[in-house]
Amino acid sequence: MSPSGRPLEGQKALVTGASSGIGAAVAVALARAGAAVGVNYHSGSEAADAVVAQIRSVGGEALPVRADVSDEADVVRMYDAVHAAFGRIDIVVANAGLQKDAAIADMTLEQWRGVLDVNLTGQFLCVREAVRRFMAQDTTLVSRARGKIVCMSSVHQQIPWGGHANYAASKGGVTMLMQSVAQEVAGQGIRINNIAPGAIKTDINEDAWDTPEAREKLLKLIPYGRIGAPDDVARAAVWLVSDDADYVTGTTLFVDGGMSLYPAFRDNG
Ligand code: BGC
Repeated sequence: MSPSGRPLEGQKALVTGASSGIGAAVAVALARAGAAVGVNYHSGSEAADAVVAQIRSVGGEALPVRADVSDEADVVRMYDAVHAAFGRIDIVVANAGLQKDAAIADMTLEQWRGVLDVNLTGQFLCVREAVRRFMAQDTTLVSRARGKIVCMSSVHQQIPWGGHANYAASKGGVTMLMQSVAQEVAGQGIRINNIAPGAIKTDINEDAWDTPEAREKLLKLIPYGRIGAPDDVARAAVWLVSDDADYVTGTTLFVDGGMSLYPAFRDNG
């Protein structure tokens, strides 16, 4: 850790989908830990500007950067912008993701492709570009690894999810992408891991917590007895990209209050 006690002091980061929800919390947490942060957004620059302002208000360094992560040229431009502003990139949190829910019989090809394009192809493009940039720059004294990547996955990389086959398939894909890349680039000093959040209170799952009935139903699936907050995930991300996790690569850190523990089997089965 740096003398300031901030584990990411001097490091340069990029967080995709950082204008809201988990991504915004991760961006702020990385900045608090000392990193300069590229705050990627797709639409709605005001929200990204607010995250940047929040980081700057506590003395951090941040840059808003627009890009559609499913667009190859956009992704390259995004990395160019972050590199131009910060001089290098040490950390990427590939977080951008979305849901387009439908029963399988009703799911349109557009819903399928829309989710796979952002959640899986977007991760591929961001991971590939991160590896290229890490390999092209000198190693640094600010971190033991040459570069660190966190892919934002979901408990649904493992828990099947009726009515959300596109989403679950995308997250299962992210897991094999992450593990395969981890195996491939570990020898180059690059670490890559997943965080698999459970039910975290954000706009993406508002339907699951915005009424008392929905909340009660959701809590039955969470042994720890509370819905997660974006900061629960953000703290895990800071740890995963810090030197404290230097021997951790190719793994998934579940941040889910036990949701992936088959809670329906607690007292039965
Ligand atoms: C989904 C949320 C859901 C949670 C737990 C997440 O990956 O985006 O909508 O509440 O998984 O099921």
